[in-house]
Amino acid sequence: MMDNFHIPVMLKESLDFLITDKDGKYFEGTLGFGGHSSEILKRLGDNGVLISTDVDKDAFDYCKTKFSADNRIKLYNFNFDKIDSIAKIESVSGFSGIFADLGVSSFQLDNAASGFTYRDAEAKLDLRMDKSLSVSAYDVVNSFDEESIANIIYQYGEEKNSRRIARLITEKRKLKSIETTSELAEIIKSITPYNFQTKTLSRVFQAIRIYVNGELDVLKKFLNNAVDLLAPGGRLVVLSYHSLEDRIVKDIMKYETLGCICPKDFPVCQCGKVKRLKILTKKPLIPSDNEIKLNFRARSAKLRVAEKI
Ligand SMILES: C[S@@+](CC[C@H](N)C(=O)[O-])C[C@H]1O[C@@H](n2cnc3c(N)ncnc32)[C@H](O)[C@@H]1O
Repeated sequence: MMDNFHIPVMLKESLDFLITDKDGKYFEGTLGFGGHSSEILKRLGDNGVLISTDVDKDAFDYCKTKFSADNRIKLYNFNFDKIDSIAKIESVSGFSGIFADLGVSSFQLDNAASGFTYRDAEAKLDLRMDKSLSVSAYDVVNSFDEESIANIIYQYGEEKNSRRIARLITEKRKLKSIETTSELAEIIKSITPYNFQTKTLSRVFQAIRIYVNGELDVLKKFLNNAVDLLAPGGRLVVLSYHSLEDRIVKDIMKYETLGCICPKDFPVCQCGKVKRLKILTKKPLIPSDNEIKLNFRARSAKLRVAEKI
């Protein structure tokens, strides 16, 4: 069953923070195959409401069936940065909790048809979670100029060899377009020492994925909207998996803990900024050794939580 393709990460820790009122209204932005959403529903009472969304059509369709018997959950096939539109449609003015478990699911990573795995020779180079987006990984690799490819790999993958990799990609594609994830992986491997291959591959694929899905801008928009939409005492709970995401979560949460940011010599506040959040995790929580042993994909998770004042 697809349920087994993704083990929910830090399930107890994240939901212990998220659920403060069993009859409250909750939002999950990253439904996936419903691991966290199932557990949220178990903890909600009859009057609790959960609104969950995923950009991935397969995940949405799967969960439509999975949750068809539970009328406490509403499902959307929207990007989570549309949380404000979804709240409007559902007439929700304040959530008791907003949750996001960023990145991609194990099902997306392992399934050739999703175009995320580089272990399957047939997986078409794509990397879009939402297949209606106009630019795919194929377009980046086969039509962007060398410098743009290098910048994407450096900026979103923090990969030092970005320039060499971009140069080789543009040389290889002169002979034949790069069609599959495994063709791209072979090009990268050919100039990467064996011991670094796994890390380099995951950085390059992560970089192109972040670029085609606009993941960092989407995350910023989502977090800012989420702070607006939390009811007083409501919690924002975010699980991230790499430093670029975690930095954004950390910085936005921290910014929202600040009041007036006018220069010190202003006699009266001009900015009008008010403190909106209190941080509940001074340092991010990480999975236990035991969880990492049982689920290797949990190893890079970081959990940050803040509460609306
Ligand atoms: C790590 S998985 C979530 C797994 C889920 N919590 C579970 O336990 O089954 C991340 C999911 O979020 C989705 N996703 C990523 N970015 C998204 C976005 N901006 N808007 C909506 N869904 C997104 C992905 O398609 C993927 O299904």
